[in-house]
Amino acid sequence: MPKTAILIVAAGKGERAGTSLPKQYEPLAGQPMLRRTVAAFDGWPVHVVIGPGQEDLAAAALAGLALPPPVLGGATRQESVRRGLEALASDPPNFVLIHDAARPLVSSRVIGDVIAALEGGADGVLPMVAAADTLRRRGADGGWSLVPRDGLYRAQTPQGFAYGSILKAHRDHAAQEVTDDVALAELAGMKVVMIDGEEKNFKVTRKEDFALAAAMIEPSSENRDVRTATGYDVHKFTTGDHIWLCGLKVPHSHGLEGHSDADVGLHAITDALLGCIGEGDIGMHFPPTDERWRGAPSWKFLDHAASLVHGRGGVISHVDVTLICERPKIGPHRDAMKAKIAEILKLEPDRVSVKATTTEGLGFTGRREGIAAQAIATVRL
Ligand code: CTP
Ligand code: MG
Repeated sequence: MPKTAILIVAAGKGERAGTSLPKQYEPLAGQPMLRRTVAAFDGWPVHVVIGPGQEDLAAAALAGLALPPPVLGGATRQESVRRGLEALASDPPNFVLIHDAARPLVSSRVIGDVIAALEGGADGVLPMVAAADTLRRRGADGGWSLVPRDGLYRAQTPQGFAYGSILKAHRDHAAQEVTDDVALAELAGMKVVMIDGEEKNFKVTRKEDFALAAAMIEPSSENRDVRTATGYDVHKFTTGDHIWLCGLKVPHSHGLEGHSDADVGLHAITDALLGCIGEGDIGMHFPPTDERWRGAPSWKFLDHAASLVHGRGGVISHVDVTLICERPKIGPHRDAMKAKIAEILKLEPDRVSVKATTTEGLGFTGRREGIAAQAIATVRL
């Protein structure tokens, strides 16, 4: 079977979208757009090209995915593609599919058809959709003229190529500016086959495109499986001068005993998320007998649970945790805890709630023997 690599170009600035992050890192229906685009190529070896300075954004967007380190792109899309192709040269594939990070809704039908056409002998493959609207061109004089729509098509990605030929085309024609890779393939005399693209494989370009893409991703609410589950955890006080609570180091007259950092708050939320997808509990994923987790920071457990939810196409709607203790006082730390949990789960802070209560001196929490936490999470699948 011929070896096929996927090259996703994500090195742009997303200026037309005007979002606070470059558009490929903006959340789209709860996940960074780039993560969704990579997920669309599930099962294929994906290589991502990112912009200089985007390393941290890319690491956060792609956390937990088994990908090679990203390649650094250039000032134009053409240059980014060329650099990506060059990076594959040490272990060259037979075919390469070049795809925009800004097209997260590419279907397995389109991907399969591109690859099938390459296997059928094409040097290049271009998915296209017919122009449906009446088209007009604005002339230099400001007047509008009708452009006959017949036979006009819009080019999409992934564009597929014989790897050696497209790399050579990029090297030979680097000085000529074009807007897609098929244009270069044609300059190099490669044989390009046109196939059917899909309207939904549109390029997220302007801000309003995010709402459109999100509506296409999220099934209508009545078809959506909304799941809720709880989590509960207790840790005992021991000697010490601080505890870890909801991802924060909080100074205290005691420490909390535990195999990991004993963060009851994050443990309860982790269990609630695992509960939403029927994935057992924290002890099953991170056994206390496993030396790897001795002293481990609990954000790793929560991050793992979130990636299991995302791996199923799930979106975390909301998490809420109640900390049950007489001391320390939670109020002064509440906002920072919310912000920390939101950061770990990549959620907006208003989707996270941190509450606290005492038990009026009653029971083990009342006797200040330990801290309990209970959490609830809601996930849409
Ligand atoms: N791209 C790239 N390197 C560049 C420019 C663009 O890898 N120097 C990528 C973008 O990240 C995007 C794809 O090429 O996934 C298509 O480009 P476009 O939609 O134009 O994205 P941007 O250039 O980021 O957006 P804009 O033109 O609005 O600034
Ligand atoms: Mg651009």
